[in-house]
Amino acid sequence: MNGHPSIDPQRVPHHIAIIMDGNGRWAQQRHRPRLYGHKVGVESVQEIVECARDWGVKVLTLYAFSSENWKRPEKEVGGLMSLLKAYLLSELSKMLKNSVRLTCIGDIPRLPADVRKVLQQTIKETKNNDKLILNLALSYGGRLELVHAVKGIAAKVQENSLSPDDIDEKLISEHLYTAHLPDPDLLIRTGGEARLSNFLLWQASYAEICFTDTMWPEFRRDAFAETIAHYQGRERRFGRTSAQLEGN
Ligand code: FPP
Repeated sequence: MNGHPSIDPQRVPHHIAIIMDGNGRWAQQRHRPRLYGHKVGVESVQEIVECARDWGVKVLTLYAFSSENWKRPEKEVGGLMSLLKAYLLSELSKMLKNSVRLTCIGDIPRLPADVRKVLQQTIKETKNNDKLILNLALSYGGRLELVHAVKGIAAKVQENSLSPDDIDEKLISEHLYTAHLPDPDLLIRTGGEARLSNFLLWQASYAEICFTDTMWPEFRRDAFAETIAHYQGRERRFGRTSAQLEGN
């Protein structure tokens, strides 16, 4: 499986970030528990990772668990943590075979110790893979990330290793959880809501945003290709005029 008839392989977005929303509602519409929606959502994760890798996407960031998701019922939080752990354990061999490197962003120390252990092990074992970076946002919140970055910068100023004059956009980017990644080109949210929900607030400044009504458990190969084709039909101007871009 290589490429998709709807997308131009020459202009595939380098970094795609996804808010995987709609698992709970999808399950409830089927009179099934919310966790069933998350379970089928894992199948979408598997399919989308495979497509991204095959189509030449270089970074795929998935919002798997937000800092606000800790407020959900204990049973759902526990269920999501188990799914995450099982996913990492079962996918490792595929990641190695397909040269997928796993990274993560978020307040990782807050995750349960067993999940953290599997996560760190997977990150270590896949660190030399270079086809696709699968970056999982876990216990992630954009505002929290900025607080974390500002604290890091302030500490350096305090110990005189940095002057306030050194602070610019690049330096702030380098203190975010995403320091190892370029900004996303395309941000997709499934599930019908049109909100950013505290996701990549700094990094998404120039991203194209695509909201789709498709619920995450049903977001598969063709739906993914459709959002990429839509992105390819748009023009990114980064604040310039169309004429300026044509002159480049
Ligand atoms: C949002 O749906 C989805 C989540 C909070 C979790 C997403 C998790 C997965 C897809 C599975 C685990 C992830 C990996 C990477 C293995 P929702 O419950 O908010 O849906 P709703 O808006 O319909 O209630």
